[in-house]
Amino acid sequence: MMKAKAKSPANIAFIKYWGKTDPITRVPQNNSISMCLSKMFSECEVEFRDDLKKDLIKFEGEKVVKDREKERIVKVLDRVRKIGNVNYRATVNTKNNFPKATGIASSASGMSAVTLAGLGALRIKVSKKELSKLARLASGTASRSIPDGFVEWERGNDSETSYAKTIFKPNFWKICDVVAVVSKKMKKVSSTKGHALANTSPFYQLRLQGMEKKIKKIKQAMKKRDFSKFGRIVEDEALNMHAVCITSQPPIIYWDPTTVEVMKRVIEWRNGGLESYFTIDAGPSVHVICLEKDCKIIAQRLRKINGVKEAIINRPSIGARLLS
Ligand code: PMV
Repeated sequence: MMKAKAKSPANIAFIKYWGKTDPITRVPQNNSISMCLSKMFSECEVEFRDDLKKDLIKFEGEKVVKDREKERIVKVLDRVRKIGNVNYRATVNTKNNFPKATGIASSASGMSAVTLAGLGALRIKVSKKELSKLARLASGTASRSIPDGFVEWERGNDSETSYAKTIFKPNFWKICDVVAVVSKKMKKVSSTKGHALANTSPFYQLRLQGMEKKIKKIKQAMKKRDFSKFGRIVEDEALNMHAVCITSQPPIIYWDPTTVEVMKRVIEWRNGGLESYFTIDAGPSVHVICLEKDCKIIAQRLRKINGVKEAIINRPSIGARLLS
């Protein structure tokens, strides 16, 4: 039987990946740092079969995936077929436990899961490093969903040297990411376009210049479990990335009014003694980073804000795994 199922988490970036050196290999312009999320993941089953003429890709067991989305997954299968030296077509069944394209990195969990399931189906074993590189080819952020816990994706110099690895295990630090889901609609500007436009912002080179120092600082704060220092860098970094988006040509504004409302509340709560920090990816949802002891009260408060559809408490998680 040439079948396997994989489960892979989404991840939240504390230091963002924004801009690629090469759109094909997705080698990034800078290192990024993230945490794998316990309550947001994809599950994907791949079966290679000798009776199929075409790959058949389904989302949540029913919807047949077509066009660009299909092409992206077929490319993953092609890569796996090449490694395994086989020519079988496959059925792919994939599902997320969270709304797609709301800035919660559905491509990270989805693309890492299909990569691992494809290899698993052909019983191909590769190191985590190789797996992270293969996932990167499918989606940049997917490279960070392979290793466990707190992860750094090294920019590297080329496709061979650009991969993610664990810097701290999941149980290293009891922090949470409470995701305030702001909209369940698909985002309007894909992150692929956003990466390509980054360089049109007058702030982009400035952002890159400050990166090495910022990464050094955040890693020091993480090592010491200095939550205040860490949180300030996380929030500052999110605003820095969005400053680039807003000043790209044409501008990309990922925020909704509710996004801004949540950001302001987080600052207010912090001034009132409830310490948390926000970060935002390429969509309107807000990730509120806090200590484990405060996650429940923060989720309660977020749910009361008009326009917040859901608040999901995530803890640090392991990376992609084969289920069968
Ligand atoms: O994987 P992509 O191409 O969707 O990149 C998205 C990058 C951000 O989520 C905005 C930041 C990050 O590092 O996760």
